Amino acid sequence: MSVLSIADNLRGLPPYGTDLSAFLLIAVTCLFIAWCFKRSRSAVDQRLPPGSYGLLPFIGETFPFLLDGPKYTRTRIEKYGPVFRSHLLLEPIVVVSGAQHVNTILATDDVIQLSFRSTKLLFGDSGFYSMNGEPHRMLNRSLRSAFTPTVMASLIQPMQNIVRERLHGWTKLGLIQGCEASKDIAITAANQLILGLDFKGAEFEKLKSCFSDYSDAFFSFPYDIPGFAFRRKVLINPSLDGFSILHTLLSTNSNLDQSDDSLTTRQVQDIALEMLYASQETLASSFCTLLMQLAENPRVLNDLRAELATNDIGPNDILDYKTLKSLPFLNDVMKEMLRYAPPIGGGLRKAVKDVEIAGYVIPAGWRILFSIEGTHKLCKYNGDVETFDPYRWKKLRVEDPHHSSRFDFIPFGAGNRTCVGQDYAKDLIKVFLLEISRCIDWQMVNGMPDIASCPIPLPRDGLPLSVKPFDMKKFKEIHESSNLASEA
Ligand SMILES: *[C@@H]1O[C@H](CO)[C@@H](O)[C@H](O)[C@H]1NC(C)=O
Ligand SMILES: *[C@@H]1O[C@H](CO)[C@@H](O)[C@H](O)[C@H]1NC(C)=O
Repeated sequence: MSVLSIADNLRGLPPYGTDLSAFLLIAVTCLFIAWCFKRSRSAVDQRLPPGSYGLLPFIGETFPFLLDGPKYTRTRIEKYGPVFRSHLLLEPIVVVSGAQHVNTILATDDVIQLSFRSTKLLFGDSGFYSMNGEPHRMLNRSLRSAFTPTVMASLIQPMQNIVRERLHGWTKLGLIQGCEASKDIAITAANQLILGLDFKGAEFEKLKSCFSDYSDAFFSFPYDIPGFAFRRKVLINPSLDGFSILHTLLSTNSNLDQSDDSLTTRQVQDIALEMLYASQETLASSFCTLLMQLAENPRVLNDLRAELATNDIGPNDILDYKTLKSLPFLNDVMKEMLRYAPPIGGGLRKAVKDVEIAGYVIPAGWRILFSIEGTHKLCKYNGDVETFDPYRWKKLRVEDPHHSSRFDFIPFGAGNRTCVGQDYAKDLIKVFLLEISRCIDWQMVNGMPDIASCPIPLPRDGLPLSVKPFDMKKFKEIHESSNLASEA
């Protein structure tokens, strides 16, 4: 993914000699910035959080951040504590983890939303994610009213149809690429359910490849330097004209029409793109994590099936909202996946005033990254935070009933700007989880793969899986008769 493309591209760069003037220019710029840095650093408040700007002026710790993923945060938390400073993507930044500190950041109006420069270039200025103030409030209202419980309930059965159709295809093939197959489900669902589109065949392939280009560019070096992923991708996709059909569809959406200030074409395109992107990559990552962890933990898979059997859910029963809500273990497995490998690792903010935190001061104007991943790993859940253990949630419900009201489990963010589509995401994940449990049996062809964690956790090997149908009817019969036997 983007990490690989950066490394590949670095290797593919021409030797410096072929373009000496460009090299000199870069070198001089680096020296100048290093000098500015020294100056500003000596003048800086003594109360800055501890940390390191990295050895390289200009890019600072960007490469460790992009390449090490969770390890980047973990090693620095160990060294400096849960609030540390660094230098990422051309700017000094404070990285914040842990429920209490994340709460401080998200509960104050002295901190505003900020997007990475690459996000802004990809999604545009009017993107929902980078908005603040009144425009954001307005759009927040419209978007949230599009994800009401009634709407969500009406999506369960279409979700089920999409997932089952795909899983049926998997069993027919016998051998699939888990990543690609997961993306297929996520993007089909986003198109049909969020946007009301039904792309097929070549159109679908085109849309898919367009999205993986965006994905590669997402966290890559956000400047127009020859050879880096960002430039390559942006040049390949110079305009969003292909999405005008989304504009037509979205602008006829009654929820958006109700607001007086009608959105511009460009805004609607940005939002549509954002929603598609946000749902596709994150859900594909969630599906892959579940496929990997359930293959690795057969007891969990077996207990999921047992929960279905106990609730009298057969191999082909149609799902509804109520059924999905009534399966606590299914819910716990989903929560554990979101805790263990949150698809979004953190959120970016900017201090508009000095912010006091953990005895330090984040100066006005500085960037803040609140780490979801780091927060999940810091919090004292039952048991070992580094293992995938869905059973922890049941214990936690008993021992710490108020657990859910705190900021220590924040896969969708927290506070005012939680993910707009979180109910959609949770429902689709649950439908997926339920259907893979009762429809298929699978194994990882290569065993547990390495995970590329930036921008979004995905298995490096594409997750080849061997898949066969699962006989849920027989499982249910055996489960019922063994229950009878144990009652007798
Ligand atoms: C949350 O949103 C409300 C209304 O949109 C706003 O007035 C308030 O200042 C926000 N609070 C925080 C902490 O962002
Ligand atoms: C967005 O909408 C949600 C739900 O209505 C609300 O809780 C939240 O405070 C809103 N956020 C802002 C920034 O206005």
